Amino acid sequence: MGVKYIPEPFRIKMVETIKVLTREEREERLKKARYNVFYLAGEDCYIDLLTDSGTNAMSQEQWAGIMRGDEAYAGSSSYYKLVKAGQDIFGYEFIQPVHQGRAAEKVLFPILLGEGKYSISNMHFDTTRAHVELSGARAIDCTVKEAADPSIRAPFKGNMDNEKLEKLIIQYGPENVGCIITTITNNSAGGQPVSMANVRETAAICKKYGIHYNIDAARYAENAYFCKLREEECKNMSIKDIIKTMFGFADTFTMSAKKDTIVNMGGLIGIKKNDDLVGKVKVRTISYEGFISYGGLSGRDLEALAIGLYEGLDEDYLKYRIGQMEYLAARLDDAGIAYQSPVGGHGVFVDAKAMFPHIPYNEFPGQALALELYKEAGIRACDIGSYMLGNDPDTKEQLKADFEFTRLAIPRRVYTQAHIDIMADALIAIKERAASVKGYKITWEPEILRHFQAYLEPIV
Ligand code: F0G
Repeated sequence: MGVKYIPEPFRIKMVETIKVLTREEREERLKKARYNVFYLAGEDCYIDLLTDSGTNAMSQEQWAGIMRGDEAYAGSSSYYKLVKAGQDIFGYEFIQPVHQGRAAEKVLFPILLGEGKYSISNMHFDTTRAHVELSGARAIDCTVKEAADPSIRAPFKGNMDNEKLEKLIIQYGPENVGCIITTITNNSAGGQPVSMANVRETAAICKKYGIHYNIDAARYAENAYFCKLREEECKNMSIKDIIKTMFGFADTFTMSAKKDTIVNMGGLIGIKKNDDLVGKVKVRTISYEGFISYGGLSGRDLEALAIGLYEGLDEDYLKYRIGQMEYLAARLDDAGIAYQSPVGGHGVFVDAKAMFPHIPYNEFPGQALALELYKEAGIRACDIGSYMLGNDPDTKEQLKADFEFTRLAIPRRVYTQAHIDIMADALIAIKERAASVKGYKITWEPEILRHFQAYLEPIV
C-alpha cells in the first residue's frame, strides 16, 4: 500500500468511551430496529459512520467560545462575530444564521421556487430535494456522466453537466427554472469535488438566462482543498481565496454548518448583495427560526460556529482529513473493493452494486451492505442509493438511482488510524461472504424522506 496515514495535527484532551456488542446482540438490535440504521441507539454502535454531520469534535477554542457565548435575544456579540466571519470568508454582504442546513432550505427555497417551478442541481441532497418538492417544485439532477461510474477516476466527478444544464433550461423554459444549485462537495455523488471552472461556467449560464444561482455549501472547505490540489488556477491560492472566488460566482448560499465548520449544530444563509431578497429571508427566518440575530441557535452555538468557520480552512487539518479518506481508500484498493473513486472529501462511498451484483436496486444493495457492516463490526453506515432516493413524487414508483452506495461518512477529528483499519477489515470480511448476502424489502414507509423512518425485512 503506497499511501501513508497522515498523523493527526492535534492531540486528544477529552475522550468518550465506546463499547462493542457481541454479534448476537447486534443481530438482535438490528431486528428490533426493523433493519433501519436510524432506529439503532448510538451507544449500540461501536464506530458510528452514519454521518459526518454534527458528529465532529470541537476544538478547545470552540469549547472556550461556548462559555463566552452571548445569549442576548437581539444583537448578541456572538452574532456580530459570526456575521463578520461569514462576510470575511465568503465575501457576501448578508449572513443569516439558522439552526441547520435544511432550515436554510426551508427559509430560502419557497421564495425562489413553488408550483410549476424547477430546481436543477449537480445533485440535490435528500433534504434539499425534499424542500424543493415541499415548495411545490420539482428537483432535477444534472451531474456529469463520469459520476455514475465509480471506477472512472476523474478529478471533479461532482461537477454539473453544463451542456445538459443549458438543454434542460431550454426544455423547461428559463422562466420556470426557479434556481440552479451547485452542491459542494457533491455529497450524494460520493463527496466528489466541483471545480472552479465548472462553477464559473454554471454562473455564466445562470446569467445568460437570468436564473438565480445558489451554492449548497455544506462542505465548502473540503471542496476548496480539492481545487487547490487538482486545479491549475487554484494551485497557488489560499483555501480562503479559493472559497471567496468560488462563492463570488453565485447569488446565495445555503449551508449546513454541521460539516466543514466542525460544530454540532448550525446553518447559514448567505446573500451576496443586500437586495430585496434579504427582507424576504428575514421575514421567513423570524417566523420559522427565530429573530434574525440568533436564527434558532443559542448564542454559544453562534460563537462556536464563528470560530469553526476559520478552523475548517486550516490546511494542515484538511491535509489530515482528506488523508484519512485516502488511507481507507488505499486499503480497499488493495482488497479489490470498489468505491466511488477517487475517494471524496467526507467519507468512502462503497460500490454496493459491485459488491452484491445479485441484489437488484429495488432490494437495496446499499442498505444491505450497511446492515452487514453493523453485523460484522458494529459499524453504522448508511445507504446512498435507491433506498434513499425513494419513490417518484408523481407516479409513486420506486426510482432507480444511478448508483448504489454504502456511505462510510467519517466524523471530523473523531476516529483514529486503528478505527479506520477496523472499517477496512470489516469490508474485506463482508466481501468474502458477499454471495450469501440477501436484499431487503420495505414493509412500511412514510411519503417523504422515507429512509429515516421506513421499516424493512430481509428477503429470504
Ligand atoms: N446539503 C447537503 C449537501 C447535505 O449534505 C446536508 C446534510 C444538507 C444540505 C442538510 O443539512 O442536515 O444540517 O439540515 N447532510 C447530512 C448527511 C445529513 O448525512 O450527509 P442539515
